[in-house]
Formats: sequence, C-alpha cells, structure tokens
Amino acid sequence: MSNTIGVIGLGVMGRNIALNMAGKGEQVAVYNYTRDLTDDLVKKSEGHSIHPYYEIQDFVYSLKTPRKIFLMVTAGKPVDSVIGTLVPFLEAGDVIMDGGNSHYKDTERRYDELKSKGIGYLGIGISGGEVGALNGPSIMPGGDKNVYEKAASILTKIAAQVDADPCCVYMGPKGSGHFVKMVHNGIEYADMQLIAETYTFLRKRLRLSVNEIADIFEIWNQGELKSYLIQITAEILRKKDDVTGLPLIDVILDKTGQKGTGKWTSIQAIDNGIPSSIITESLFARYISSLKEERVYAENILTGPGIDQRSLDKDVWIEYIRQAFYMGKICAYAQGFIQYKMTSELYGWNLPLKDIALIFRGGCIIRAEFLNVISETYQEQPNLANLLIAPYFAEKVKEYQKGLRKVVCEGINSGTSFPCLSASLTYYDSYRTGISNANLLQAQRDYFGAHTYERSDVAGFFHTNWQ
Ligand code: 6PG
Repeated sequence: MSNTIGVIGLGVMGRNIALNMAGKGEQVAVYNYTRDLTDDLVKKSEGHSIHPYYEIQDFVYSLKTPRKIFLMVTAGKPVDSVIGTLVPFLEAGDVIMDGGNSHYKDTERRYDELKSKGIGYLGIGISGGEVGALNGPSIMPGGDKNVYEKAASILTKIAAQVDADPCCVYMGPKGSGHFVKMVHNGIEYADMQLIAETYTFLRKRLRLSVNEIADIFEIWNQGELKSYLIQITAEILRKKDDVTGLPLIDVILDKTGQKGTGKWTSIQAIDNGIPSSIITESLFARYISSLKEERVYAENILTGPGIDQRSLDKDVWIEYIRQAFYMGKICAYAQGFIQYKMTSELYGWNLPLKDIALIFRGGCIIRAEFLNVISETYQEQPNLANLLIAPYFAEKVKEYQKGLRKVVCEGINSGTSFPCLSASLTYYDSYRTGISNANLLQAQRDYFGAHTYERSDVAGFFHTNWQ
C-alpha cells in the first residue's frame, strides 16, 4: 500500500502520463490489459518510480487509500470494461479518473453508477497529445468538487504551467470536464480548417511556394496569431519527403480522418439550438475531403469561373488573409465559448469561462496567445453573451472584416472553397443583423402549418388566415 496513484492503459498517452506523474515525485502503479506494454514501460522508465502490476487485484491493493486510479484507455466500451474489473476491489472513497476522450454523457452514466457505490468518478479532459501528456497537458477535470480535491495536487502538478499557473482548474460537476474537452476539440477542428484555408489562399491564389508560406506562418507566430497550430504548420511545411524530395505536404493524400469528438460537438450544438456553424463547417469539410474519388471525377465535369489571371499585390493580400484568418478564429472561438455558456446554463454547471481560457493557454492543442485576452474578457464580463461584442474583439473585427470580406469574395470569384472563412463572415453578419428575414419564415410556417407567429408590436401568438 505504498503507491500514490495508479495508471491503467499504457498506450502512448497513458505511458507518458505515468512518466509525468513519476517525474513529479509520485509512486506510480501501472497496469495494462496486455503484458507487453507494461514491460515496455518498465524498460523505458529506469530511475522513475514506476511499479508494474500484472494482476488487477495486486495493482489495486498496492495503492494508498483513498485510492486514486487514472484510466487512459480507449473511449467507449473499454472504459466500462476496466471499471467493471476494478470495482470489486475498490472501497467507498476511492477515486477513478477517466483521462480519455469519453463522451460526456457516458461519463455522467458512469458517475451515477459509481456514486451509488460510494466511489468517486472524475471525467478528465486531457489535451496536448503525447508530448503534452509527458511534459504537461492542459487538464479539464469534472465531477464532485470534494472528489476532485483528493486528486487536485497530483493533477495540478502534472499539468502545463503558464505564468506559474497550472493549466488545470476544476470545471464543474458530472460530465462537464469531458464536455469542455469535447468542445475544445470542436474549436481545434475549426482552427485547423481555418489554417488550411489560409494556406490554400496563399498557395493557390497568391501562388506562393511552400517555403514562402512557412516563412509567413513563422512571422505570424511572433505576433497576435501566435499559437501551437500555426507553429506546427510552419514546421510541417518545411518538412521534405525522404523518397521524392518534395515538400512532404505535397505527397500527403487530401483525405481527413476524425475520431468523433468534433462530430459530438456539432451534434450537441444542434440538439441544443446552439449556432455552431464554423465548427460544423470544419467537420463537413472533413467529410467532403473523404470523398476523394468523387471529387477527382467531378473536377472533370463541373466547371468553375476558370483560372483568374489577375495578379494580386502580395504584401497587401498577405495582410488581408492574415486579418481574415484572425477574424475567422475569433468567430470560431466565440462559437465554442457560447457552446460552453449555453450548455452551462442548461445544466446549471456554472462553467468558469475565464478559467477555461486560462487552462487552454498551455499544454493543449489550441493553445494560443489570444486566449489571454479571452480570459481577461470573461474575468471582466463573466456573463458576456458573445466574445464578438467585447470591446477588444469588437474593435478587432471592425478593422479585420475588410480582409475577411476581400478573401471570401476572392474565393467566390476564383471558385475556391473557403468553408470556415465564409461561415465566419456569415456568422458575423448574421449576428450583427438586428432585423433579419426570420419574419418571412414565420409567415411561411403560419401559412402552411398554422404554427402561429409573434408580432414585433404586440405580445402574444397570432395566426392569420392567409388565403
Ligand atoms: C488533444 C487532441 C486529441 C486528439 C484528437 C484528434 O487535445 O490532445 O484533440 O484529443 O488529437 O482526438 O481528433 P481527430 O482524430 O478527431 O482529429
């Protein structure tokens, strides 16, 4: 009974989390369903306080009570199965933490089941990939606050640290931690797609070389656009293929995979009336990309406006696309944070928006300079309806919409699709429209279905006999 924490699931993420914990002074018991990964970790962890177990019972009984067990297993059935194996050996007061990308509804079901047995359950969003897991990820814990307190010292220690603040803050009850991670991934999809569209503009419309684009991203990464995704994109563009000597990007097939978290974000938004158009467009862009064979076929049948011979002033248009990208990013994050706000109100979670932005500043995939401003904004206005109307961002988009409009028009005129940049502009223009065309929709609904409508001058619901 000397180990301070146990880790189950020793794939890349679990192994690195275990090493991270051991590196921070914890005595870490490790267990994997197959022996090979455990042996592998033991070989690599010389000098670390990593203690392997090959029977689940031995693993559990090696832990100090109340036991703290961190699961890093594939989301879905494997999580239920591991919990099922653990429970017979646990006691009231012990804590299970799920650090995988579980659906927050699954987390809530498991939380309820374990609570009835007196076992604490935390759904913990972890972001940062394998390097983050080892050196400090962003950690989004959800569950009972008193249960979180039992694990807080370990979690804050292994998290990324920014300005001496750990990128780990209690998010709220039940499945809220995994919910925050899910929407983080939706924002991640949108941010990635916006970067891809920016790259397309620079490459196809400004006809810049891959190296020139890498130079531009490196410069951007020193200013207000500084972010992990911009940084790695520059590095990706520099990479050459060992076989052909071409930029590696040019030999990678343009067909995108996904594991589901972005899709869950869109489904949850749609189910709850949350306008998450940019995140959803980024998901659809992935779906369209997967129709590779059809796209190649259609290219020979469907025409566009033809090759645009006009040359654009590079310096002017590099600034336009920079503005367009930044404004798209502001709109996408605004949508993500609205999803946090609306869902928090729906479930009474009281999600700390300021802290979400704070813990996203380090460790996670969407870490970016401008999260500092988002955090400060929510610090000043915790109930802000939309980031777009906060003074800093309202001023920014007032200036940058010119670039976004120019780029989206250029896309339309040249027949190049910019799904997320266009969706950002549409979102921006819709959101700032005080009187929309929804009155006509209401009239149509009332005409064919007697669905009634409200009037702008008198309260109540009305029906008109239209014929
Ligand atoms: C992270 C990542 C991580 C993973 C995503 C990618 O925050 O560390 O988001 O969770 O890379 O699952 O998801 P897709 O495979 O759906 O792109």
